[in-house]
Amino acid sequence: MEADVYQRIKYAARTLLNIDLEQYKDAQMRRRLDSWLTRKQIATWDEYIHLVRRDAEERERFRAYLTINVSAFFRDITRWQEFDRKIIRSLHQTACTSLNPTGALRIWSAGCSIGAEIYSLAMLCEQFTPGQSHFLLATDIDRDALAQARAGGPYANTEVQNISKAQRLTYFQKGGPPFYIKHSLAQKIEFREHNLLADPFDSGFDLILCRNVIIYFTDAAKEGLYRKFSQALRPGGILFLGSTEIISRPSDFGMRGIGMSFYEKCE
Ligand SMILES: C[S@@+](CC[C@H](N)C(=O)[O-])C[C@H]1O[C@@H](n2cnc3c(N)ncnc32)[C@H](O)[C@@H]1O
Repeated sequence: MEADVYQRIKYAARTLLNIDLEQYKDAQMRRRLDSWLTRKQIATWDEYIHLVRRDAEERERFRAYLTINVSAFFRDITRWQEFDRKIIRSLHQTACTSLNPTGALRIWSAGCSIGAEIYSLAMLCEQFTPGQSHFLLATDIDRDALAQARAGGPYANTEVQNISKAQRLTYFQKGGPPFYIKHSLAQKIEFREHNLLADPFDSGFDLILCRNVIIYFTDAAKEGLYRKFSQALRPGGILFLGSTEIISRPSDFGMRGIGMSFYEKCE
């Protein structure tokens, strides 16, 4: 790709999508961009930028493609605030009164990327149920992302911006940036390679987080996943999706919406 074309793409990404490609590895991003244009079967970048400028849906697809591995602690903080206010309490109450007298929760972060999501969840569990151990599973198809997740970092400033000072002091190693999660927290999570579109699912989960992953999939694949997530949840268990991921008819999959981003498996 010519340098001036790359400049124009970066300008378009910044102005139309609010994504700063300067912060991405140059060679890798150029390769990704090349394969995107080929996949789109569009001859030139100028033509594609023109399309992105006038088509809001295409803009979202391009954004999702560019940010495929991007993650952050407490990403979309308002959703996490709602989770903290309402969902974790009711999950724990039903877990305690169900067949599971220990109150231990089974939680799965599917498409966990670099681990920021499952560590955010683990921090809330520690705060909400101090001393209680839970089963925390985090999976992804991307080995490099998983390796970073397992190592508990490194995490950049931009990735920890929703972390409070108290959380930083309690759950992160001293120093940084870059930041690293304490081993004591990292050890509590089982990280596993797993392809959501091909591998079998475990079951009996109280909570499944699958956020900002399914936006990359076709409608048929999405529906297959909703069905499998529903089967993997215990009755009353919760599916926590990303802010732009909406199941229009959750009853088709044996679930009901309980506020934006949360779906409860029906009894
Ligand atoms: C944008 S990240 C989302 C990370 C995190 N859930 C969040 O919301 O911050 C999307 C992740 O989905 C993973 N992914 C994509 N296709 C997948 C698949 N078929 N099976 C499992 N993970 C997949 C990618 O490797 C990437 O780490």
